[in-house]
Amino acid sequence: MLGNFSYKNATKLYFGDDSLKYLNDELPKYGKTVQLIYGGGSVKKNGIYDAVVGILKENGKTIVEDAGVMPNPTVDKLREGVRLARENNVDFLLAVGGGSCCDYAKAVSVSVNCDDDPWEKYYIRFEKPDCAIIPVGCILTMAGTGSEMNGGSVITNHEQKLKIGHVFGEDVMPKFSILNPKFTMSLPKRQMVAGIYDVFNHICEQYFSGEDDNTSDYLAEALMKSVIHSSLIAVDNPQDYEARSNIMWSATWALNTLISRGKTTDWMVHMLGQAVGAITDATHGMTLAAVSLPYYRTIMPYGLPKFVRFAKEVWGVDPKGKTDEDIANEGLAALEKWMRTIGVAMSLGELGVTEDMIEAIADATIILDGGYKVFTRDDVVKVLKASL
Ligand code: NZQ
Ligand code: ZN
Repeated sequence: MLGNFSYKNATKLYFGDDSLKYLNDELPKYGKTVQLIYGGGSVKKNGIYDAVVGILKENGKTIVEDAGVMPNPTVDKLREGVRLARENNVDFLLAVGGGSCCDYAKAVSVSVNCDDDPWEKYYIRFEKPDCAIIPVGCILTMAGTGSEMNGGSVITNHEQKLKIGHVFGEDVMPKFSILNPKFTMSLPKRQMVAGIYDVFNHICEQYFSGEDDNTSDYLAEALMKSVIHSSLIAVDNPQDYEARSNIMWSATWALNTLISRGKTTDWMVHMLGQAVGAITDATHGMTLAAVSLPYYRTIMPYGLPKFVRFAKEVWGVDPKGKTDEDIANEGLAALEKWMRTIGVAMSLGELGVTEDMIEAIADATIILDGGYKVFTRDDVVKVLKASL
């Protein structure tokens, strides 16, 4: 463990099938006017909306409706949400939905009292908020992003063909998040699986960096094993509460900053996936799945010892009589088999990407330098082509 770091997580969690009642404990801490943020309507169909509105009313809150947050929330929607919050002097932002609603709420929170355009300020210039932040709470309905316990907020600008994440500090993280695994049961299977792969990839992005003996890697391996185990149960029976609850808890720990301590972290699969998302608006977890294997096969020679460890510790590959390359390849083959079993997208073609889109996706790809190989634009193009 070689890093220098601090650690604090500012989000209080309430977990379990009766966790919604704790909204009653949290609401009195905040002002009267609540902007109720939700997506395209799933919360109305599954009853979560009615339950939340009931609690808000019991607590004497004035509700400002902010519906229609789309998957991969856009900068246009963000500007609309900021206007709504300003017009109604909103005191608190309550996101009820998946990562998109939670990310969007954070973006609104840092923009309401700020004169600058939020896209330019946070997503192009990467500035820190220098205005009063409206507090955010989250009631999570989809496991995947970890947004419920981190400062991440990803916004898409279709005009500029960019999808960019800003990781805000602890003052922007949700003050509390309510995690009821039952709320995720109405997810379509494809979304559940996309979320599962997102979780797994968040762990990989942090694991595949560094060469020191690092406690974070042991934690990462344990999380990966739990995700693999529970995913196989959940894919067979999406209503298995135990598996779904483990997936939800693993999702939070995969990206709540713990396992990145002491790590440089890679995040290139996410940079590629986000660029694909910017051009196609495809489901986040599926964009990651489509590029992962070509990406990991490309970087494997540069981080071979970690890929050997991944094969042995996560996938149980028997190393006897094999070269390191063979062991590492067997690990990636096991990853591929699992991905096919749970049913994620295995190619960009499945997401509607065609060869003529590759240059635009490469243009939208931000290159980071924390992983085993610092990519060139050519490397990006090669991986994208191999993912077709
Ligand atoms: O909009 P509704 O009708 O609610 O439907 C949603 C949406 O269509 C549906 N859904 C969610 N919960 C449901 C449900 N349908 C039925 N029953 C339920 N219980 O699922 C669809 C996808 O929801 P969304 O919130 O978009 O998914 P996810 O949680 O994967 O969030 C994706 C966004 O998060 C960003 C992604 O880039 C993307 O923009 N990310 C945020 C991160 C962070 N904050 O740290 C990190 C991630 O890597 C990711 O980039
Ligand atoms: Zn992700």
